[in-house]
Amino acid sequence: MNDINMIDQKNVPVHEPERQYYFMDACRDILSEKVLRSGEKLTYLTETLGCQMNAKDSEKMNAILEYIGYEPCEKDDIPDFVLFNTCTVRENANQKIYGHLGILKNKKEKKPSMKIALCGCMMQEKDEVELVKSKYRFVDIVFGTHNIYKLAELIYQNLISEKRVIDVLDAPEKTVEDLPQKRKYQFKAGVNIMYGCDNFCTYCIVPYVRGRERSRRPDDIIKEIIQLADDGVTEVMLLGQNVNSYGKKYIDESIPDSERISFAKLLERVEKIDGIKRIRFMTSHPKDLSDELIDVMSNSKKICSHLHLPLQSGSSKILKKMNRSYDKEAYLSLVEKIKNKLPNIALTTDIIVGFPGEDEDDFNDTIDVIKKVRFESAYTFIYSKRTGTPAARIKDDINTKEVIQNRFDRLLEEIRKISSDIAEKKVGKTAELLIEELNPKNPNMVSGRLSDNSIVHIPGDASMIGSYVDVKIKESKGFYYIGDRI
Ligand code: 5AD
Ligand code: SF4
Repeated sequence: MNDINMIDQKNVPVHEPERQYYFMDACRDILSEKVLRSGEKLTYLTETLGCQMNAKDSEKMNAILEYIGYEPCEKDDIPDFVLFNTCTVRENANQKIYGHLGILKNKKEKKPSMKIALCGCMMQEKDEVELVKSKYRFVDIVFGTHNIYKLAELIYQNLISEKRVIDVLDAPEKTVEDLPQKRKYQFKAGVNIMYGCDNFCTYCIVPYVRGRERSRRPDDIIKEIIQLADDGVTEVMLLGQNVNSYGKKYIDESIPDSERISFAKLLERVEKIDGIKRIRFMTSHPKDLSDELIDVMSNSKKICSHLHLPLQSGSSKILKKMNRSYDKEAYLSLVEKIKNKLPNIALTTDIIVGFPGEDEDDFNDTIDVIKKVRFESAYTFIYSKRTGTPAARIKDDINTKEVIQNRFDRLLEEIRKISSDIAEKKVGKTAELLIEELNPKNPNMVSGRLSDNSIVHIPGDASMIGSYVDVKIKESKGFYYIGDRI
């Protein structure tokens, strides 16, 4: 069905990234002819759900779309190409996609030439792909997480065959990296340091849809960050599902022992790169957070004073059932160690309520940890059953929806109290702010982040975007602050 035979196979490079550049150029030729004929530009819109990994993947795919001739469009326009980068970490993420697709169907009826592509984590699930195949026949291209680099090749196949193209791989075949780049922000960038996850927390679908954990070579990461710095980037966010296990397994296992380094050592190398002023990373698993890392963070001038350290539950019984490899005491003593060495660190977390079998005592353990750690903020989730994960087979015969909702509400209230208490204490303090954007609601204000990841709005204009300014925090507004330049 993938009518690649319509092109002269002899000319198609076998190796990457040359092969993808070949298809990008081929797409560009076809699309520029369309533009010439119609006299109208071709536009695209990418919708991204989920985590920073997906955001990064979307940036890479947007770069390919722009290279081949699509231009970004406004949310309300009817684009010529729609790319949906899906998430499947919780059930409601899937429902959102089907809701969006319903709206898109109407748009496509108005503009039949519109192309719709679905990719990302949800497309790694066979049942979802079957559903799209049978019920959403207007979707033109479907692919998963392992072959996003192939976007131009898939578009090309669709353009010349006018048939639906479905290409989902069970596991990554290769990693292709030297493709066009595009960044949402000129001054900050995410950098993948590893892909996949080997932790198999029992509730989580990520290891099944993003594959086995594999780290990039340190030299490749450093080279990429040097290039970013040369290009004006001052803040990098190192990305991985579990950055603390960086370097345990590599994409290319032939890497010599002398080049294998820990995450802490990688950070030390990033610290030395001229032009980089701030280093962030996401996400840390408590079980792998080493003393070496805490030391490197405490000696660093560039690593931001923010650590996202997912707790998931405060109950040792539930943590065991979740396969998190730490218990309540271990988490608390890790936090104590971190706070001793890094007294100004802002700790944030993820918490799941309603894991099968969670009782009131377990929930109280979660509240207890929250009170002891005093997180600046927390992402809170109601447990969502993901088919295929071990937890999906555990029957919960003690909790009703109402009980779980009630716990969730109490959890939010507890977190809100602590967050606002911490926030109040920041009022009057001074800190360095990286200005990121114009405030969407007030064009006379700009918004940015402090090293501890707090969002601050100050009076200013577009010329300040990308610069670092010292600010005084005047007022706390719950999720953000109002400040003044000093
Ligand atoms: N149900 C609810 N929350 C989940 N998360 C991952 N899987 C599930 C699930 N099945 C949450 C975890 C993780 C965050 C990214 O999403 O808290 O840290
Ligand atoms: Fe999912 Fe656990 Fe891996 Fe995080 S560490 S992606 S929660 S399996």
